[in-house]
Amino acid sequence: MLSSANTVAVGIDIGGTGIKGAVVDLTTGTLLTDRVKIPTPSGGKPNDIVETVVELLSRLGDIPEDAHVGICFPAVVKNGRTMSAANVSNKWIGLEAEALFEKALGRDITFVNDADAAGYAEVRFGAAKDRKGLVLLTTLGTGIGTAIIYNGVLVPNAELGHLQIDGGDYELKASYAAKERDSLSWDKWTERLQKYYTELEKLLSPDLFIVGGGVSKNYADFLPLLNLNTEILPAVLRNNAGILGAADLAANGNS
Ligand code: BGC
Repeated sequence: MLSSANTVAVGIDIGGTGIKGAVVDLTTGTLLTDRVKIPTPSGGKPNDIVETVVELLSRLGDIPEDAHVGICFPAVVKNGRTMSAANVSNKWIGLEAEALFEKALGRDITFVNDADAAGYAEVRFGAAKDRKGLVLLTTLGTGIGTAIIYNGVLVPNAELGHLQIDGGDYELKASYAAKERDSLSWDKWTERLQKYYTELEKLLSPDLFIVGGGVSKNYADFLPLLNLNTEILPAVLRNNAGILGAADLAANGNS
């Protein structure tokens, strides 16, 4: 029998503009509390973000003592250390981030990349639930986050948003921020996405693509325009994906 520590956990999703968290039920993949959101302190510096996470956790109310806490973050995370920093201060690079949060919160945490958490959640509870084979999640936002999940197991830290295509980092061309910045119509943006997903198909032969990020709610405007050999579906967990994935990885591990 599972103890409540496997079924109730806390997920916190740190982003460049907001930090969100909730207590979640991992048997159903639903939130047990309201989602609390606090703006990311400007500059995104380590101590300021850590303080905001402490504040957020206190706003979630009484958390069962044995509840696991998972935190996801926009960086490559290797053995608890942040190796990069997307839309947060460069001071995160090389930092023992997991230990920093653990000290401030006074409890163990699990610390993972944001796209990894979101992709894992879609496989456990969302658009790719129970799908075997190679699932590739891409989040189209300020950058492009990616997660590789094979037969339900996450292969962490894929940074496929930074594929070099046309001589440059393609996140700068095909993210949702690039669509906005370059005032691209859906058609024009989809031409870039076509190039991006075709490259991913060529390199990885996935069984399923999941498209997340805020723009996935407008999937009808661009997914049908893509011509791919691989099935491609919109994410369904939206703003809760990072929270759910981080919480589940914390409570039940990567399996
Ligand atoms: C970063 C990834 C992150 C993604 C989404 C990219 O720029 O390199 O680590 O997952 O943005 O936040």
